[in-house]
Amino acid sequence: MEKIKVAVIGATGAVGQVFMWMLADHPWFEIEYITASAARIGQQYGNSVHWVLPFEMENIIKPIVIQEYDLAAMKAAGVQIVFSAMPADVAKTAEPELRDYGFYIFSNAGAMRYEKSVPIMIPEANMESLELIQQQGYPEKGFVVTNANCVTTGLALALAPLVKHGIKEISVSTYQSVSGAGYPGLSSFDITDNVIPYIAQEEEKIEKEIKKILSIDPDVYAYSVRVPVMFGHLETVWLTFEEDVNVEDIIRDWDEFVIEESGLPSSPLKPVVYDPDNTFPQPKYAFWGTPRGMVVYTGRVKKKNNKLGFTLMVNNIVKGAAGGSIQNAEAFVQRYGLR
Ligand SMILES: NC(=O)c1ccc[n+]([C@@H]2O[C@H](COP(=O)([O-])OP(=O)(O)OC[C@H]3O[C@@H](n4cnc5c(N)ncnc54)[C@H](OP(=O)(O)O)[C@@H]3O)[C@@H](O)[C@H]2O)c1
Repeated sequence: MEKIKVAVIGATGAVGQVFMWMLADHPWFEIEYITASAARIGQQYGNSVHWVLPFEMENIIKPIVIQEYDLAAMKAAGVQIVFSAMPADVAKTAEPELRDYGFYIFSNAGAMRYEKSVPIMIPEANMESLELIQQQGYPEKGFVVTNANCVTTGLALALAPLVKHGIKEISVSTYQSVSGAGYPGLSSFDITDNVIPYIAQEEEKIEKEIKKILSIDPDVYAYSVRVPVMFGHLETVWLTFEEDVNVEDIIRDWDEFVIEESGLPSSPLKPVVYDPDNTFPQPKYAFWGTPRGMVVYTGRVKKKNNKLGFTLMVNNIVKGAAGGSIQNAEAFVQRYGLR
């Protein structure tokens, strides 16, 4: 079967690199067009990119030439799906333009997440949100589907099977890796041997996005902290529920959260995996799982008074970014039959 031609916008950044890695041998999609900032136009990807992923670049993506950001050229090349890994300020004008041009955009940028007709989609948590593309004019027009901010993705997945108990309050502290700030990102002077107790806009994003994704309205208390770790965001969470919930209930809910036969190549069978080891999870497991980096790991469940606590770890650039977008595009193709 012929593959669907896709573009990666912002292919050289931290998130863009994950797109390139995951799309290099994707069963449904093939990379047809890639862009970065203007200085790289005409350069071969393998020679131009500063590769930060902890494994080797696929040979097949090395010779791909970085193109000018030109919507007509993308259309002429047969691109239907656009994966966006642009900085938010660039995405703010570029993504509506791409949509008006008829492309199907799967974006990591925060620029359009809070528009009513734009889904913040996580297939295992809110597949039904995909229907919103019709409010944007699909099938006559293009659309934008976003994925959540990276820490919110991990939190939303861990909470998805717990929503049935009535989540009244969420307190979350995040310990976020430096890849979350992109490449080159933070200065090594600022983050080496240090911890920074503030990440601009992050706490507000968690509060807004968790409510939109899970259609719940709890009180949310968040602190976001940058830590000197390369990949993987750790989170500590305390919840209060309407129902009387115990440690065993939470562990069973995660265990029974199985997405059988989703048919999506990038979906894990079990999106949340719990381990009772007291030292679990850790960011060094960020690329564990099948598919790699797509599983959220949880641990240390405990109850005190009426609160239930646990830890989680999400790969911020895979499940929390490019991998999540690819999974969303797969869900769209499966549901609306573009193939
Ligand atoms: N990192 C994460 O964990 C994460 C998670 C979720 C969402 N996000 C979001 O995903 C997006 C990308 O993040 P990132 O971490 O990959 O950022 P990044 O490492 O800074 O990469 C940005 C990409 O956009 C390109 N670019 C920069 N300025 C541009 C311009 N004016 N026109 C066109 N392209 C331009 C860059 O090209 P050059 O390399 O040539 O500069 C690079 O390819 C952001 O919106 C971010 O908020 C990131």
